[in-house]
Amino acid sequence: MSPRLPLVLSSACALASVIAAPLVAATTPTLTVDTTAAGAPISPQMFGVFFEDINFGGDGGISAELVKNGSFEFADPITGWRKVERPGAAGGFGFATEDAPFARNPRYARLVVQAVGEGFGLRNDGYRGMGVTQGARYEFSAMARLVAGEAQSLRVELLGPKDVVLASADVAVSDRSWTRVSVDLLAGATEPKATLRIQVSAPGTLDLEAISLMPYDTWKGRRNGLRADLVQLLADLKPGFIRFPGGCIVEGRTLENRYQWKNTVGPVEDRPVIYNRWNVEFADRGKGAYDYYQSFRLGFFEYFQVCADLGAEPVPILNCGMACQFNSGELVPLDELDPYVQDALDLIEFANGPVTSGWGRVRAEMGHPEPFGMKMLGIGNEQWGPQYFERYAVFAKAIRAKHPGIRLITSTGPFPEDPKFHYAWGEIPKVPVDIVDEHSYAPPEWFLDNSQRYDRQDRKGPRIFVGEYAAHVPTRRNNWTSALAEAAFITGLERNADVVVMSAYAPLLAHMDAWQWNPNLIWFDNLRSAGTANYTVQRLFSHHRGDTTVPVRLEGAPAAANGQPRLYASAARDAGARELIVKLVNATAEAQPVALALNGVTAPVRGGRAIVLAAALDAENTLEAPAGVAPVEEALGEFAPGGTRTLPPNSVTVLRLPIAP
Ligand code: AHR
Repeated sequence: MSPRLPLVLSSACALASVIAAPLVAATTPTLTVDTTAAGAPISPQMFGVFFEDINFGGDGGISAELVKNGSFEFADPITGWRKVERPGAAGGFGFATEDAPFARNPRYARLVVQAVGEGFGLRNDGYRGMGVTQGARYEFSAMARLVAGEAQSLRVELLGPKDVVLASADVAVSDRSWTRVSVDLLAGATEPKATLRIQVSAPGTLDLEAISLMPYDTWKGRRNGLRADLVQLLADLKPGFIRFPGGCIVEGRTLENRYQWKNTVGPVEDRPVIYNRWNVEFADRGKGAYDYYQSFRLGFFEYFQVCADLGAEPVPILNCGMACQFNSGELVPLDELDPYVQDALDLIEFANGPVTSGWGRVRAEMGHPEPFGMKMLGIGNEQWGPQYFERYAVFAKAIRAKHPGIRLITSTGPFPEDPKFHYAWGEIPKVPVDIVDEHSYAPPEWFLDNSQRYDRQDRKGPRIFVGEYAAHVPTRRNNWTSALAEAAFITGLERNADVVVMSAYAPLLAHMDAWQWNPNLIWFDNLRSAGTANYTVQRLFSHHRGDTTVPVRLEGAPAAANGQPRLYASAARDAGARELIVKLVNATAEAQPVALALNGVTAPVRGGRAIVLAAALDAENTLEAPAGVAPVEEALGEFAPGGTRTLPPNSVTVLRLPIAP
């Protein structure tokens, strides 16, 4: 689905053919599933999501706001706006900050109009246009102040191609002091790239600020809401957690550009806008986005709220006193870390404190007196080196002292096996750590070869969070080659659920017309959205997670030239459903029969079902054909222990067998 891309982090090895190689086992492989063994609990957080405002995933994406730069705070305040000066009109507009209604976003637009003619005003282009739907209502709102001249009646319109008017309404501005004005627009047609035009009715001087156009149809109908279709796609994953807000966003290119959660709560108009670090990151690869800023409409309150909606544990990540080490690598001196540590303590209070506490009161005033019940916190995103661990130790000591129940997450850097990674694992035993975050962006064959990675993990050490991962094919597309390799890898996470407790694909969201990085889990445009083949794998595993592991032994599997198997398996019990779940991944180009030995099962099993994902290696889900890669379900009738199941080429199979635990 995604267009061709620049390379970002992973190597460009063209080894997708490893998957396609026709590997057939000499004898039928056998999967022994020991249903008599007591397995380990599988974490309810095993499958979650990682949200970062990259690829216009936040502003212009999951945030439903349609006006770009409504606060005029972008470095170039005219960004997103055009002057409307139709025949006979005369006037101009500029920007001012005196006597502003919002101290932290002080800049506003001043229109000075000599003649109205056929129309004078401003026009906003949205985020690569505004998606509007026929019959849907949108609330236009702004802060307005009449500086000179008669009362105004602003004509507010949604325009389609060739300026056809899709919606129109008038709103009065008569106050000499700042007043919030609003009016509803009813869209007469569906248009993915509408624009918003605001025209004055009389000569004079008028100030406008915090201009907004919000659909009423948001997730749960909330006013500062999120795009319902995108949140629904997240909900459909049944995520066990949401890691937020990043990602490199947390770090910032410089410390000044870092994510500061306190600036993301309270009235949305007064959350200070900053440039998005993905604005310039890949400008040298033609992926700059000069108009990418963070308005924090999806701030920490909205984040905790959506976690609660989806039944997902919040996993906030905070800056640890370091800017992105791929950029400035700026460091906060150790003896100046206190405000950063205090931010972490205050976030815990914001999430969990009583309404009588300072930050608990802020949460209550925003509409959620009950605590959000945050249990985990990541210190730093993708940091590395001694500077990281000395800073991490300061945070960990302070948080452990005050909130011993909060599970702390530490970083191992950007790669899954390099000197930074090994250095991190050398330091981890010296600091208080509960969960270790590992990131893997790598070619598909890395994932195929690393299904056994966690078999070797120290069982007595901290738990593992595979916090960011994605298989990168050379074209960087979200095709079945990448999704299948991820499925193979995930069976290894499941088999090792006693140590691996969380995982998330990355990144999550990408706008078709405004992305910086790919592949991504979900693609969208201004009106449509679709889960990729990779999404389909995530959903399949999440929906069929189970509660406890069941040991499996796979013998006789076909192997690649490097000796690594290309058949993969895991098994679990679902106590509620009283079912045994067996997952099998065939990463070969041939149909593969597998004999299933179910230890402890003597009688044939009836009433089971198989859910199968199989596709051509280049198959993709697109906005036009979102179900290109989709599961097919089949009733199993009678399944005899020791019987054989043939796995289609390049496929993932989930067997659900009603076998009481
Ligand atoms: O997921 C995209 C980026 O990859 C994240 O911001 C960062 O943590 C990693 O390098």
